[in-house]
Amino acid sequence: MKSTTLGRRDWLKAGLGLALGSAFPLSLQAETKQYLNRVHPHTGRWMLEEAPVALKARLTSNENPYGPSDRAKMAIIHGFKDANLYSRTVAIELKSKIAAYEGVRPEQVFLCAGLSELLNLVGAVTGLEHGDLVSAHPTFDLMLTTASAIGGQWIKVPLNKKFEHDLGAMEKAITAKTKLVYICNPGNPCSTIVDPEELSAFCSRVSKKTLVFVDEAYNDYIPDAARHSMVSRLRAGDQVMIGKTLSKIHGFAGLRVAYALATTGFIKELEKYRTWDFTMNAPSMHGALATLQDEEFKQYCVMKNREARELAVKGLIALGYEPLPSYTNFLIFPIQKEGKSFVQVMQNQGIGLRSWYFNDKHWCRVSVGTSEEMQLFLDALKQVG
Ligand SMILES: Cc1ncc(COP(=O)(O)O)c(C=O)c1O
Repeated sequence: MKSTTLGRRDWLKAGLGLALGSAFPLSLQAETKQYLNRVHPHTGRWMLEEAPVALKARLTSNENPYGPSDRAKMAIIHGFKDANLYSRTVAIELKSKIAAYEGVRPEQVFLCAGLSELLNLVGAVTGLEHGDLVSAHPTFDLMLTTASAIGGQWIKVPLNKKFEHDLGAMEKAITAKTKLVYICNPGNPCSTIVDPEELSAFCSRVSKKTLVFVDEAYNDYIPDAARHSMVSRLRAGDQVMIGKTLSKIHGFAGLRVAYALATTGFIKELEKYRTWDFTMNAPSMHGALATLQDEEFKQYCVMKNREARELAVKGLIALGYEPLPSYTNFLIFPIQKEGKSFVQVMQNQGIGLRSWYFNDKHWCRVSVGTSEEMQLFLDALKQVG
């Protein structure tokens, strides 16, 4: 591997690069360009070792094109004053702010560097116990694949005809071996939601038998989001765990801030396995403190997302596609072409997106970017046919 140590001239160029608004120092651009914007055509995972593809629109990973807010950016810059210190103090402050915001106690908050970190951890703990994990299928499978790799059993319950969680069938799949039920609401890759009253009743019944994990990564995009959040079940004393991330509505995907809420007992259990102290960095946590309660920014993102999503839905329907209802910042629809080659031809048009295969169909999942990006996506789709 080539050394990346920068000399004085490099730093001057780097400064110039930043002043010109480029994301990378000039001297490193040529070197790094070849690693950028490349996703695996099937899994959608970033392939850092691969050749370059310049994307006009990166619509692969449900990122928020409007974040972080200016307020968060300023807080992050100021947060660098703490960058030489282990981040315990600001983490404690963030925990208590989250607790007050969510109406729980600080001991019920688990901070993590992205929800992925927590999903992996919970998957590993459950997998090590060789337990069963029940989830819908398809779903966001990180926790489930980690658990399966380590010795857990993933019990997949197909979504119903409306591509929503089939709560009745999921409840029937629970046995004495079940350690956890994973609910992703709104779903991913299917962007649907479950009826909040049904889900609440499900949580309250099922949590008496096993832990219910509700992944609320996209909750903020649902109109009347609070009614759909299962934090209310936790406040009522149920054995539920709720995963929340700032990657989506707050646009923090690259800053890695997320948290889980659960009973004090379960948080204590998880703390035993976590990476020493806190994995999150101080500047990001300062940013999180500034953005957490910024309702104006959240509403702005929800509104812009709705606008761009409606434009894309209209365009897709005009082209004969049938997207599922979406309560998220992405759309999914069946395609005629084979998924991998579809992703490849769209990538050749400069549009990054992902494909799935389920219910005997190939599907395209496209993130909702800006309206301009969605227009580029529709134009490319017209070309590809
Ligand atoms: C449903 C769901 N949960 C969790 C995550 C992981 O989010 P984070 O960026 O916080 O790791 C994602 C990311 O796309 C997601 O879609």
